[in-house]
Amino acid sequence: MNGEPSGAVAGSLADELPGKPGSAAKPDRRSAEAGSGLILAIETSCDETAAAVVERGRHALSNAIASQIAIHAPYGGVVPELASREHLRNIVPVVRAALSQAGVTFADLDAIAVTEGPGLAGALLVGIVYAKSLAYALGKPLIAVNHLEGHIHAVLLEQEELARQPDLNLGEPPVDWPALALVVSGGHTNLYLARRAAEGFTYRNVGRTLDDAAGEAFDKVAKLLGLGYPGGPWIDALAPYGDPTAVPFSFAQIKRKAHRAATARPPSEFLFSFSGIKTAVLRYVQLHDLFASIAHRRDKLAAIPKPTPEDALVLCGKETLDLIASFQRAVVDDLKRKTFLAAVSLDAASVLVSGGVAANRELRLRFTSEAVGRGLPIAFPSPALSTDNAAMIGAAAWPKFLAGQFAPSELSAQPGLAL
Ligand code: KG4
Ligand code: ZN
Repeated sequence: MNGEPSGAVAGSLADELPGKPGSAAKPDRRSAEAGSGLILAIETSCDETAAAVVERGRHALSNAIASQIAIHAPYGGVVPELASREHLRNIVPVVRAALSQAGVTFADLDAIAVTEGPGLAGALLVGIVYAKSLAYALGKPLIAVNHLEGHIHAVLLEQEELARQPDLNLGEPPVDWPALALVVSGGHTNLYLARRAAEGFTYRNVGRTLDDAAGEAFDKVAKLLGLGYPGGPWIDALAPYGDPTAVPFSFAQIKRKAHRAATARPPSEFLFSFSGIKTAVLRYVQLHDLFASIAHRRDKLAAIPKPTPEDALVLCGKETLDLIASFQRAVVDDLKRKTFLAAVSLDAASVLVSGGVAANRELRLRFTSEAVGRGLPIAFPSPALSTDNAAMIGAAAWPKFLAGQFAPSELSAQPGLAL
């Protein structure tokens, strides 16, 4: 960690706690269901400091986020040391904002939930140490949540919220099980077969990336082309101005091990690879001599206090816009092809798409039309809940709260935690 005083966390907590430190009693399921069901969730796995109050895993009363984009933007990527320092700075005001937006106090909470991993070790630790201290001091249970499970619950949370709106008259939440869930973000590209079970949810990891995550490819290509950070929203905004068929990118078929390929059964693992397309974009830039125009664009955008994709648009020629559109189309189509292949092979009854890249407009359109064509229900979180947030952590924590699955006092960060 750097020079920021880590005591700031404990120091500001002490001022606000309503009671004396104690240990959490394990609520039984019936009393848990009868209670107010308020969970304060904390998420600090990467570059957003987030806190939310979620009622019964179904209704976000607040969803506060302090974004660090401006801090990391000059470096074109997340700098782990800076992320930890900013989390330390932001955690107390963000939790305070989440409580006040929800109109509740510490005393109203039933449990504290926190992201355990995967993520940056130093960043995760800030949230975990804060949440542990808070849970201990309030005498309330602590729930550890896997960030990837959180992303899937962002979709479920909003489906529940939609279903509860009386004027929409949707009745049961429109998620059919088992669901094929694509989690596609800056750090992950995973496919899961998710099932709803009596005591929560189960997930079978049926697909993953062999190298870069899809969001990482968006970020690296945007950086290479002199656009802003994170790259996904910039490429999303500029792609409609180019021709997506102009540059024929292709994804090599990933060979499964011979013994698996020889079986007649459907593949049990769907593999992605996004490092090749990043190199292909670089090759295109070299072959078409685009470096000078990229440097010009980068310099011009750097001179603007808060540059936007509209500023970048006037600095992009047709060749660059075609390249951006073709890159996005190729990534979206590869994600779509493998997701639906997995859904059909594994007899999924619906498709859920979540994670930062799920905010992409072309992805939403092309996935939706594929799903409609196949008669498969599909759901995405709203763009705000697609990227990292704490409401999704509070939603994923609820079944664990009901099942009495509480974290031990020695809970620590799990940077490589799998789902
Ligand atoms: O889920 P997230 O906030 O953090 C991780 O868990 O990684 O995802 C961040 C990623 C970044 O790579 C960002 O470029 C990408 O999501 N992203 C997008 C869009 N919005 C965010 N990618 C494509 N199109 C978008 N609109
Ligand atoms: Zn994430």
